[in-house]
Amino acid sequence: MNLSVTIGTLQLKNPITVASGTAGYGEELSKFVDIGALGAIFTKGLSLKPRAGNPGPRIAETPSGMLNSIGLENVGIETFLLHKLPFLLQSQATVIPNIAGHSVEENVELAKILSHTDGIAAVELNVSCPNVKEGGIAFGQDITVFSKLLEKVRAVTRGVLIVKLSPNVTDITQFAKAAKEAGANAVSAVNTFLGMKIDIKTGKPYFANKVAGLSGPAIKPIALRMVYQIVEKVDIPVIGIGGIFTVDDALEFLMAGATAIQIGTATLINPDTSAVLLGNLQDYMKKNSINDINDLIGIAHR
Ligand code: FUM
Repeated sequence: MNLSVTIGTLQLKNPITVASGTAGYGEELSKFVDIGALGAIFTKGLSLKPRAGNPGPRIAETPSGMLNSIGLENVGIETFLLHKLPFLLQSQATVIPNIAGHSVEENVELAKILSHTDGIAAVELNVSCPNVKEGGIAFGQDITVFSKLLEKVRAVTRGVLIVKLSPNVTDITQFAKAAKEAGANAVSAVNTFLGMKIDIKTGKPYFANKVAGLSGPAIKPIALRMVYQIVEKVDIPVIGIGGIFTVDDALEFLMAGATAIQIGTATLINPDTSAVLLGNLQDYMKKNSINDINDLIGIAHR
């Protein structure tokens, strides 16, 4: 059975990956999952300097989902390269750092550093974090700003460049099209939806940043619709994200045309979800005599 999929010049062992921000830098996850067997690990969004993130509370459960307001807490690129990457590489993981600089210059610098680092499979540019005051979603909602940033990051990125899109736009296909035009090799769709919670004891916003990002099964049908629409309109590989908890969810995204998928919120509930889904996907293929996963990808469009 062939499970490998291709994104630009990058071949993944299989389409099951873990989403940025839900598996840190792989070390904790490796206690539950053989991270070398997954398609890839997308790291927590990295900045040049370490970031402390937002003051708490940072998470709230919602019906069929959760809100997060982490604020891009991360160890910074230097600590990542010195102390986190070696473990990932020893574990044979396919490593895709997510970069989330607060300015164009910071993103360019991060992409440059990673382009000169051995063992990096690709870079995922995060233009969609809803929880920071500078950068983040501000790059992902204005098409001119978005295109300019991408052109600059593309110019210094040697390998595969993936752009993580925000769903908080009127027409996500326009951003996927602009990503392709600026030279991105793929898009990840989608990051979290802007949400909010009010603390009824104080009558004030629950999160210090007021708004937060909604993820989990609650967003799955919307994320799936966006993936389908991008695949229909733009010829670029799409990595599907949004409330994938079961193999049936994964199959829906693949059939909608996602070349690979990222497991996010589900890992926070059951850390072994990615491994379980990989096993279940293989079982599904066996049962249905599917020899190549690529025969399933995009069948909803045929
Ligand atoms: O707040 C956060 O760190 C979230 C990041 C993201 O959604 O990209």
